[in-house]
Amino acid sequence: MSNDISLFEQAMAAADYIRTRTVLTPSIGIVLGSGLGAFADRVTDGVAIPFTQIPYFPPPTVPGHGGRLVIGRIDGVAVAVMQGRVHAYEGYSSEQVTFPTRVLGLLGIKTLIATNAAGGIREGMKQGELVLISDHINFTGRNPVIGENDERFGTRFFDMSEAYSKRLRTLAIETAKNSRMDLAEGIYICVLGPSFETPAEIRAFRTMGADLVGMSTVQEVIAARQMGIEVLGISCVTNLAAGLQDEPLGHEEVIETGRRVAAQFSTLLARLIPAIEKEVGRQ
Ligand code: HPA
Repeated sequence: MSNDISLFEQAMAAADYIRTRTVLTPSIGIVLGSGLGAFADRVTDGVAIPFTQIPYFPPPTVPGHGGRLVIGRIDGVAVAVMQGRVHAYEGYSSEQVTFPTRVLGLLGIKTLIATNAAGGIREGMKQGELVLISDHINFTGRNPVIGENDERFGTRFFDMSEAYSKRLRTLAIETAKNSRMDLAEGIYICVLGPSFETPAEIRAFRTMGADLVGMSTVQEVIAARQMGIEVLGISCVTNLAAGLQDEPLGHEEVIETGRRVAAQFSTLLARLIPAIEKEVGRQ
């Protein structure tokens, strides 16, 4: 990222550009993980902006990540949907990985729904299951706020004791129940990747209290929390973690499972969005 202007000014430039493409002010931002991009098709009155058209936006390099920002409505609620994201393992810095989150924050979102594909660590987890993230372990050694802090994003030392909003988790569990879906909760540990874990690492992570493992989300959630954005996280268990299934792990399986549960996942999200809008609007 160029050092000529500050990160904040770059994010403002990106937000200003996006505002030239839509009159909507999104209240909820949604990041769609590997294989889960189809939800964006449910957006109505939408404009789809390729990441490459947005100033300073980092373009994704991974198959399964569409690379478009779709702004429109779900059930009347104005949303900004990231169809695809970038990861640290693509060679991007934490600042770049969280750049889109910063921009969505400047556009005015109050809530971020971060979704991802994850490996299931906890015993009994099933391939294709959706799990609400109750908390995370940042095992990347990185943090998007490292360095000189720009107070326009928020303070340097901020609370992470309820990174994943309790009231939104309660709402998500209720919404799933009303749709006759199971929605367990779990702790997500974030690794850098891109190699999958070894069985020894997975045993260590389980001892540390992790239920899910993945390569995204945590940096975005940290940046969102600094900006005061309320977060909901949902993982799709695309595979059992290393050592827990017979076959070797591969990216194709991750995408395949994501696509298989995409309809169920999309239905849950579509029901959650108006429920969140009502809950957040009520405060
Ligand atoms: N490990 C790390 N990241 C992942 C996995 C996994 O098993 N599955 C999907 N993303």
